Amino acid sequence: ADLNLQEIHDLLVNVAHEAGQMMLTATPSYLSSGTKKNSADLVTETDKAVEKIVSTRLLTAYPTFKFIGEETYYPGQTLTAEPTFIVDPIDGTTNFVHAFSTFCISLGFAVNKVPTVGVIYNAYLDELYTAIKGQGAYLLRKGGKKEKLPLKKEPDPLKDLSTCLVGAEWGNDRTGVNFEVRSEVFTKVAATKEDGGAMVHSIRSMGSAALNLAAVAAGQLDLYWEGGCWAWDVCAGWCILVEAGGIMVSGNPGDWEPTIEGRKYLAIRGAPSGQKDIAEELWGVIGD
Ligand code: IPD
Repeated sequence: ADLNLQEIHDLLVNVAHEAGQMMLTATPSYLSSGTKKNSADLVTETDKAVEKIVSTRLLTAYPTFKFIGEETYYPGQTLTAEPTFIVDPIDGTTNFVHAFSTFCISLGFAVNKVPTVGVIYNAYLDELYTAIKGQGAYLLRKGGKKEKLPLKKEPDPLKDLSTCLVGAEWGNDRTGVNFEVRSEVFTKVAATKEDGGAMVHSIRSMGSAALNLAAVAAGQLDLYWEGGCWAWDVCAGWCILVEAGGIMVSGNPGDWEPTIEGRKYLAIRGAPSGQKDIAEELWGVIGD
């Protein structure tokens, strides 16, 4: 049967607002938060409570759909072609615990493993990013009107990396190869080139993969690179990015067709030209 994507979108928006209220009324503390893999991988009671409410709401409305969520994920759970909600109840849990403003709920919906609806809500700033495949991406800011993304009506071409503002994250895992790769990316991207110029304008870490993607969709960041995050961190933002004219490629050099579960991503903002050249330039800088 044909899916009513507008109805799914509207449900996700309602659920996002409900979850947002839970985040605003919660009193998280790093003293009461637990950790998962290590002391920098935080989880709070609110992450778990929000996921419970969200999965109940979504599966009550759509009992035949699948659900993948950060807090209930188990190794071996894989994304199929079936309609699937892919949810991070709180993306940016560290920010949430510290009352740092960039955290959100990330509600993605995939069909045939393609991000098809995306809703990202930052309750703290009251900013709602939404997209339905084929219908554009939008931002509704506190007290504002719905704005179409990207925010700049005529985005600049992507000339070269030296004029780019790049999103990158330290992630939650400070050990092993994963951490080495991230550190190298920061060092290489922040470096000075042989001609004495800076490699990029600067690097930003928003502390939430979903909000990095939203910022690229909005055109505030030119690029966002991350290796190590998960399907629930990117599914909603991916849909919003693509609907705003951006592209998602893999963080692995030469891989133009990443999968939702690929764990390594490079997002590039909408631009009249230069998107693929910038991807190749960044891949060249960070290497394999
Ligand atoms: C994390 C955030 C962070 C990113 C990590 C994610 P969480 O999600 O998005 O910015 O660097 O890779 O796991 O744990 O706060 O939901």
